Amino acid sequence: MKKEIDLIQNQLKNLGYVSSSIDKNLNLPDAIQHLKKEKNAVLLAHYYQEPDIQELADYLGDSLYLAQQAAKVEADIIVFAGVHFMAETAKIINPTKKVLLPDLKAGCSLADSCPPNDFAKFKAQHPNAVVVTYINCSAEIKALSDIVCTSSNAVKVIESIPRDQEIIFAPDKNLGRYLIKETGRDMILWDGACIVHEAFSFEKIVALAKQYPKAKFIAHPESESPVLEIAQYVGSTAGLLRYVQEDASSSYIVATEAGILHEMQKRCPQKTFIPAPVEDDTCACSECAFMKLNTLEKLYNCMLYELPEITLDSKLMEQARRPIERMLKLS
Ligand code: 13P
Ligand code: SF4
Repeated sequence: MKKEIDLIQNQLKNLGYVSSSIDKNLNLPDAIQHLKKEKNAVLLAHYYQEPDIQELADYLGDSLYLAQQAAKVEADIIVFAGVHFMAETAKIINPTKKVLLPDLKAGCSLADSCPPNDFAKFKAQHPNAVVVTYINCSAEIKALSDIVCTSSNAVKVIESIPRDQEIIFAPDKNLGRYLIKETGRDMILWDGACIVHEAFSFEKIVALAKQYPKAKFIAHPESESPVLEIAQYVGSTAGLLRYVQEDASSSYIVATEAGILHEMQKRCPQKTFIPAPVEDDTCACSECAFMKLNTLEKLYNCMLYELPEITLDSKLMEQARRPIERMLKLS
């Protein structure tokens, strides 16, 4: 009987169909740990994932840390609990490995705000500019770039470029404006943004800060300029985590995706973390709907059937790899 079930599962797998029905009695975290060992797979997860997924990760981190870990992986399979551009980056660095993403629809509004054809035309208008792209973009955009950066190393990447060199920065205009301020460089910005970080309300944050006068306000650089201007610390998810661990305050208003609060609370159980308020009270806007598409069930199925898999054209991977490797070398 077991043989027949395996045969049917294999046929389903070959057809690209993955069954979503899972035995209700199955302990999913245990089953996922078991599959990791059985398949020699490694699980990389971003801080914006559901807490139960974060807890299962072999490597949990921000975009830079996850790209660095992906570059060192020895396992046969990389399972990426994050969004598409992150898994795609892992595949570009590891073209011969199998890279899985629990839900292929886990995209990114920022990456979507930069269509490759439009960006190629934009780039052609500035033929002498060096193209720096934030890692939150598609492989096609990376292939059009000179160097990639993340929010952890963006200042360092910009500062590595000669001062008289013209720079295009894409796709995030908010991070771009922040970098112009931090580095004093005048960059040509692509008009892209993240829907999650643009949803924070400046007025409501100010009101909340008055309500909690002892709380420090900290923000991710994808937030809009007025929000960043009142932040006592601005940084990547890893930077925000480091800050709350090292800083002496006991409470923080946090302007980034709410998933980060799990790790903050875990590292600083005695401190209080308040998610920054958003414009629209009717939605869970400080949650990234793309990140939250990954669930334990999908993660289990994805590891069991080894689907969905990230596949990319080899020429595209080769072109996109160079700017990523330049970034990794610099970090
Ligand atoms: P970090 O690299 O800071 O984790 O940012 C990832 C991201 O998608 C922010 O929205
Ligand atoms: Fe993309 Fe924004 Fe989600 Fe980050 S939070 S993955 S930038 S949509």
